[in-house]
Amino acid sequence: MTRIFSGLKPTGHLTLGNYLGALRRWVEVDQHRAEALFCVVDLHALTVEHDPARVRRLSRQAATLMLAAGLDPERCTVFVQSHVDEHARLSYLLECTATDGELRRMIQYKEKGTRAREAGEGVRLSLLTYPVLMAADILAHGADEVPVGEDQTQHVELTRDLAVRFNQRYGQTFTVPRATRPQVAARVMDLQDPGSKMGKSHESGAGIVYLLDEADQVRKKIMRAVTDSGREVRYDRESSPGVANLLEILAACTGGNPGELAAVHQSYGSLKRDTADAVVELLRPVRERHAELAKDSGYVEEVLSAGAERARAAARPRVDAAYAAIGLLPGR
Ligand code: AMP
Ligand code: TRP
Repeated sequence: MTRIFSGLKPTGHLTLGNYLGALRRWVEVDQHRAEALFCVVDLHALTVEHDPARVRRLSRQAATLMLAAGLDPERCTVFVQSHVDEHARLSYLLECTATDGELRRMIQYKEKGTRAREAGEGVRLSLLTYPVLMAADILAHGADEVPVGEDQTQHVELTRDLAVRFNQRYGQTFTVPRATRPQVAARVMDLQDPGSKMGKSHESGAGIVYLLDEADQVRKKIMRAVTDSGREVRYDRESSPGVANLLEILAACTGGNPGELAAVHQSYGSLKRDTADAVVELLRPVRERHAELAKDSGYVEEVLSAGAERARAAARPRVDAAYAAIGLLPGR
């Protein structure tokens, strides 16, 4: 059976980008057709300046939202990365497989490293090694597929390279995974700055729709989205990135096609109204279910604890095999 692994970092409140790029597909498709594991990758939240209480709060919130969005613990495994030692344990072996040159080429390292330096902060070593830990997440679980947004392509490519290299050097150990992306909205852009990704850790929230925003906040943000100085609604990412972004969001919500949706809208105003309505309707059940689940933290904890146990049991033999293959003496 196909195995699927994916994760979300608790570095901020989850956004519409997270939902359309990743979470919605996990719920609607992936958990039904494969042995799937979905993880709050909390160790990855420690790669940049962080506040311990906030990471704890966001980790719980991310897990609750994953369940609220419809991940069903009867169908898939939902857990927290730091509850399963195998990830960090395998990461070290992959650090012995990767080179510093290939990690320094990672776009996210360059961008976030520059940002940290500009803010006068040190760049944590873990920011450089982070994609190796991500590779360990994926390889420890023998995933065939990794459903992610477009921004993660380079990291999944690295994971493939490391798996192939390890297998060539030490014998067949890892499944070589591939990234899968949604057909539309694989890269949802910031509504105020359509040249950059809608990312949860941006300082200003005006261009970001959060999954837990109230309906009128969502509406306001979408109605104020930056479009361009033209009038005609056209689907062209190059010349009209703001309009293209709205069309993709609307297409993702309604199951339509961005080009066809452009043709049926006469003005930016009507496109924005339809998009706002569609997003509000899409997120309403998630927000309602989140409110219910958040009252019952015992339930979420139980799910995470059972999930960690399953994930640990499944990953352990694979990581043990990698330890043996690379030349370490078995413990017993
Ligand atoms: P992160 O928030 O970086 O942990 O991302 C979790 C998942 O959401 C990954 O699969 C990302 O590729 C995806 N994702 C994050 N932001 C966006 C976005 N703006 N558009 C599409 N997918 C996204
Ligand atoms: N790096 C991913 C992101 O920023 C999160 C992540 C960590 C992940 N480990 C993973 C995604 C394993 C998929 C599979 O979004």
